[in-house]
Amino acid sequence: MINSFYPAWLIRDLRSDHAGEVGAVWIYRGILATSNNNLIRDFAQKHLETEQSHLREIEKLLPPHQQSRLLLFWKAAGFFTGLIPTLFSTDSTLYTIASVETFVDQHYRDQLTRLKPLTHFSKKLSDVYSTLLKCQSDEIKHRDEAAEHTKAVRGIFTSAWCSLVSFGSLAAVCLARRF
Ligand SMILES: [Fe+2]
Ligand SMILES: [Fe+2]
Repeated sequence: MINSFYPAWLIRDLRSDHAGEVGAVWIYRGILATSNNNLIRDFAQKHLETEQSHLREIEKLLPPHQQSRLLLFWKAAGFFTGLIPTLFSTDSTLYTIASVETFVDQHYRDQLTRLKPLTHFSKKLSDVYSTLLKCQSDEIKHRDEAAEHTKAVRGIFTSAWCSLVSFGSLAAVCLARRF
């Protein structure tokens, strides 16, 4: 078993990471199912490929029986998180991505801080650290790229939506750590 040496807290962390990467893949699928804008489609296609590579890397660390039992729900939640803002405007989509990736950057940062001191003692934990660090650095690029492309100032409805997305991301992490 790949991860029989992982402590229970790390398995919970990885379960939330895996669920998050599943959600991320489906966010971009939701955008691609809705958008006719070439810039957004190109952006979403490239990010989708990166999220799929993250998912493959995390699946190497976390076997199916330790993954979240709510994967169907994370897929649906991701899909609608991508689809809903894309029905409104390009900027809404970009601000949504920037919010999600800001959350994910912090999520990985917290885990990396916890893991860092342990990497000196275990090659396996050091490998997990490297995988999460790579994911985090890509998420930062996604966040910055989304923010760079926005044109209008974020309005009140988009701000409220982004707050809902951030809150939903936090709730999803709490749930995915347990189920
Ligand atoms: Fe990712
Ligand atoms: Fe990302």
